Amino acid sequence: MKIIKSSKALYDELNSLKINGKSIGFVPTMGYLHEGHIELIKQARVQNDIVVLSIFVNPLQFGPNEDFDTYPRDIDRDESIAVESGVDFLFYPSVDEMYPSKPTVTAVVNDKTNVLCGKMRPGHFDGVVTVVTKLFNIVQPQRAYFGLKDAQQVAVIHSLISDFNFPIELVEVPTVREKDGLAKSSRNVFLDANERIEAVEISRSLNMAKNMIDNGQYNTSVIKDEINKSLNKTSGKIDYVEIYSYPELKEINHIEGKFIIAIALKFSKARLIDNLIYSLN
Ligand code: PAJ
Repeated sequence: MKIIKSSKALYDELNSLKINGKSIGFVPTMGYLHEGHIELIKQARVQNDIVVLSIFVNPLQFGPNEDFDTYPRDIDRDESIAVESGVDFLFYPSVDEMYPSKPTVTAVVNDKTNVLCGKMRPGHFDGVVTVVTKLFNIVQPQRAYFGLKDAQQVAVIHSLISDFNFPIELVEVPTVREKDGLAKSSRNVFLDANERIEAVEISRSLNMAKNMIDNGQYNTSVIKDEINKSLNKTSGKIDYVEIYSYPELKEINHIEGKFIIAIALKFSKARLIDNLIYSLN
């Protein structure tokens, strides 16, 4: 595995491989790798000749009172995981490399962001699409891998790819979970022992909602009320519990078609998100 910190160097390396007809699969991350990220890498490994992993904690997508400074980082551990998982190129740029000066031009998301994490984290998705646009231009992959744990991010990246005409296939990867159901996340390390136990309530309440729907309960207010009740048993603070059409992310009162049930719960040092994407037909 080659570790590359310069955008130009990575671009040049990949360019010569592309000239020789090699396909490139790209996995963008902020590091502190766990099985969720590894699943993305594995899928990329199977489907492409060359796998590029990026690790960059992108300041543009963090709000002023968010956890940019304390976001967990461990590049040595990430390097060994990347090698074991079969990554060919690890792109690990500095903030100065990605943003040598305050950017003059950035990308803005106009739809799908007035809800869920977009609403709770103003500017977050503008930061995501700006960095992903830069990374797409540096790597120019055939395929890019994103996890459905961040379902709103997947919906926004679909729009980025079609609105900006990126010739890239977005591969959606299902959420990888701990044995007890908690969605794997770099932020889980910030849960204390009691919160870690309580956090299971997030996936449990999503399963409960699925059972309600399977048993004919289609009223989204009733379903959301039950989820809120379950989450209120924990010490976490509910950021949102919502049911929307997916990928349009429009509010629905009645369950129909493809939809998402999305939860964000804030514990003392970690804000956790999870969702269930489900279809009645
Ligand atoms: P990060 O949170 O590091 O996540 C990188 C990728 O891993 C995302 O596509 C995310 O959805 C996926 N992922 C995280 N946890 C997962 C899980 N439990 N199961 C499956 N996939 C999972 O998302 C970002 O970084 C950034 O916003 C980024 C796209 C890199 C732009 O900065």
